[in-house]
Amino acid sequence: MHLYRLVHGSEAREIRYDGKVVHLLKAQILGMGHAYPERILDNKELEQMVDTSHEWIVERTGILERRIADKHTKSSDLSFIAAEMALERSGITAEQLDLIIVGTASPDMPFPSTACIIQDRLGAVNAGAFDLEAGCTGFVYSLTVAEKFLLTPAYRYVLVVGVDLCSKFTDYTDRNTCVIFGDGAGAAVLGKGDSGPGIIESYLGAEGSGGKHLYMPAGGSAMPASHETVDQRLHYIKMDGNEIFRFATKIMVKISERLLSSSGLEYKDVDLLIPHQANIRIIRTAMKRMNIPVEKTVINVQQFGNMSAACIPVGLSMADQEGRLKPGDLVLMVAFGAGLTYGGVLLRWGRD
Ligand code: ACO
Repeated sequence: MHLYRLVHGSEAREIRYDGKVVHLLKAQILGMGHAYPERILDNKELEQMVDTSHEWIVERTGILERRIADKHTKSSDLSFIAAEMALERSGITAEQLDLIIVGTASPDMPFPSTACIIQDRLGAVNAGAFDLEAGCTGFVYSLTVAEKFLLTPAYRYVLVVGVDLCSKFTDYTDRNTCVIFGDGAGAAVLGKGDSGPGIIESYLGAEGSGGKHLYMPAGGSAMPASHETVDQRLHYIKMDGNEIFRFATKIMVKISERLLSSSGLEYKDVDLLIPHQANIRIIRTAMKRMNIPVEKTVINVQQFGNMSAACIPVGLSMADQEGRLKPGDLVLMVAFGAGLTYGGVLLRWGRD
C-alpha cells in the first residue's frame, strides 16, 4: 500500500511516499495583469443618491471612491484586458494555455461561462475553461484549483482570473451596500516551477450556514426572474454587514496561522500581506493581530472599494508593477466572501 504524508514545516513541498521523501513541483505565477473601469464614483456623488455622508463612509469603511463599469462593459471585457496583460508579462501565448479558470460571482450571464467567452476572445484554442463561484474568495479558490492542475504532467500553463462587476447587482437606493462595492479584474498566468519560487501552501474553507448574510435572492433556480422579483428588488446584493464583519476579522487570522504553521513560517517572515479589501477596519484589525506593519500590506480599498474576487489579483498585479515585490519575497493572500467562503495562499514570489 502507498502512503502519502506531507512533510510539514517544509517549504520545498515534499511528501513521504512509500516511506521515501518525494520532491514535488510547484506552481509559479509567471505574470500578472489587471483592469478597472475609467468611471469614478466618489463619496460626494453617493451623497446625492442615498442618505449618507463622505465622513461616514470614510470613517466606517475607509473608501474614498470606487470604479464603476458603464452599461456596455461586461465581466469578460475587464477579464480580457487583465488576461492580455498577464500573458504579455509572462511571455506566454494564448495558444499555450491549457486551462482558464475565472473566479467570479458576476459572470456575463449564467451560461456560457465567462471563462469560455474569454477563451474565444483570447484565441486560447487549446484551453479548457470554466467559472468558479466563491464570492470574494473566487481568486484564491481559483488559484488553488489551478495549482492542483499544474502538479499533474498534462497541464503546463493555466490562466486564472478574478473578476467582479458588483455594481451591476448593487442597489443604489440601499446605503448599506452601495457605498462598498466597485468593479475590477485581475489575472495571473501560472506555470510549473521547481522547488524555489511558487505556491507553498493554500487553504480553502466554507461556512455555508452563513450564506444568508450575503446573497442575491433572485435570478437562480430558487427564484427565477419575474416581474415580482424585479419589483421587489430581489436581483440585488443583500448583506448583513455586521455579521460579515465579525466573520472576517476572525477568519483572516485563522487562515494565516494555518498557512504559516503548516509551512514552518511565522508572521515576521511575511514580506507582503494582500488581504481582501472589504473595509479598512477589517484590514487594520487583521494587521494588528498578525503584527504585520502597513508598509508590508497592500491596501487599495480607498481607491477601489470592494472589487470582490478582483481585490487580491489587482492588489498583487499593482504591487508587482510598482516594484514592491522582489524574487524570494513571501506573499500571503487571505480572503473571505459570499458562501460564506474563505481561503488563503502563501507563495514565494518569482519564477525559475
Ligand atoms: N451611510 C450612513 N449611515 C449608514 C450607512 C451609510 N452608507 N450604512 C449604514 N448606515 C447606518 C445604519 O443604518 C445604522 O444606523 P442605525 O444605527 O440607525 O440603524 C448605522 O449606520 C450603523 O450601522 P452598522 O451596520 O452597524 O455600521 P458598521 O459600522 O458595521 O458599518 C459596514 C457597516 C460598512 C457595512 C460594515 O459592517 C462592513 O464593512 N461589513 C463588512 C461587509 C463586507 O465585507 N462585505 C463584503 C463581503 S465579501 C463578498 O463576497 C462580496
